[in-house]
Formats: sequence, C-alpha cells, structure tokens
Amino acid sequence: MNANFPPILVSQTDLTVPAPHAADVDAVLIPAEQLQDRIGQLARQITADYAGRDTVIVALLSGTVMFLADLMRRLEFPMRLDFMGVSSYGSGTESGQLVYTKELKLSIRGRHVLVVDDILDTGKTLRSVTAKLAELGPASLKTCVLLDKPERRSGQFEVDYVGFAIPNLFVVGYGLDFDERYRNLPFVGVLKPHVYSDPA
Ligand code: XMP
Repeated sequence: MNANFPPILVSQTDLTVPAPHAADVDAVLIPAEQLQDRIGQLARQITADYAGRDTVIVALLSGTVMFLADLMRRLEFPMRLDFMGVSSYGSGTESGQLVYTKELKLSIRGRHVLVVDDILDTGKTLRSVTAKLAELGPASLKTCVLLDKPERRSGQFEVDYVGFAIPNLFVVGYGLDFDERYRNLPFVGVLKPHVYSDPA
C-alpha cells in the first residue's frame, strides 16, 4: 500500500436508498458524489506518479466498467488501455475457481503497467493476475482498486492505490454485480437478504 495515500474507511451508512432501487437494496454504502470525489483524488495521485512514463492500464472485466471510465478520463498523461477477463465468482457470493476469459492484446514488455480492479477481497485474483503479468517483462507493475475488504484477505497482497476500505459485506453497484445484476446502480450498496435467498 502507498503509505502516502491511505484508503478512506467506510462503515455502514443509513443513507436513504433511491426509490428505483429500494426493493432490492438495503443500504447505500458509498454514494455517487463520494465515489467521484475519491476517484478525483486517485486520478491526481496516479497522474503525478505516471506522467512521462510509457503506461498501459490493464483493466479487469467486467466489474471495473464504471470505475475505469471515471478514473481514466481524469488521467492527464498519454496511455494505452487493455483488458483481461478473469472471473472468480459463479452465481453466488463465494469465491470459486479462477477462470481467464480474455487475455491481453497489447505487449507490456518494458512498459509501466497499472492493473485496475473493482474490489480486492481474498486477494486471489490480483495475486494470480500480477504473477501472470510479471512474467511478460513490464518495466513496473502496480495495482489500483476502488474497494478493499481487508478482513477477507487470505495470504499477503499489497495493493498500491485504494479508493475505500469497506467492511466485510457483499457489495453491488457502480459496476459490481450479484448474478450479473445491479452493475448499473450509480452508488455502491448492500442488497437485502431476500435477493440472495430468492434470486430472480
Ligand atoms: P478476490 O477474492 O480474488 O476477489 O480478491 C476479487 C473479485 O471477486 C469479486 N468480488 C465481489 N464482487 N461484490 C461483488 O460484486 C463483492 O462484494 C465482491 N467481493 C469480491 C470481484 O469480481 C473481484 O474482482
């Protein structure tokens, strides 16, 4: 972790859930404005660290979609973008087998690579992805996540840029899904228990 850039700690909030989502969403954990403020801070730090470097952003599909778009448009340096597909969840909330669904298209040899993911949970995904990328000879390799659930970590993994440290709750919205739904919520929230027990 970048000692000069500690995550913002988030605890359960009692913010009112916007009406269109109130049937399934129990609580808003991080509202849209707070996401944007923090992403602005992350982008300024990353711009300061990467300016002048030959950089490739490697984003992991699909949960990064909103975070990536909001972060990237604020990065003020020339860069390339590529995607990797890696999936660790089936239709539940428990981690399963890691499956690579899309490989890199660009060469990262001799380039500075920043891996962007939605959430760091056990660390299994980013440990596997960074080990795979390290074999391709990047000039440097760092990681950036919007959310971190430190209580869930199994084994060591140090992430370089973190938006928010959150409690051990399964979260959805702002790109994150449960059973491929809820990615479109403009905030990060927690689902009502009936959604898990009775998925549509
Ligand atoms: P690991 O355990 O490998 O997990 O660090 C990383 C991946 O697991 C997914 N994940 C979640 N997805 N809400 C989600 O929608 C969550 O609370 C959550 N926790 C982990 C996610 O795909 C992440 O990249």
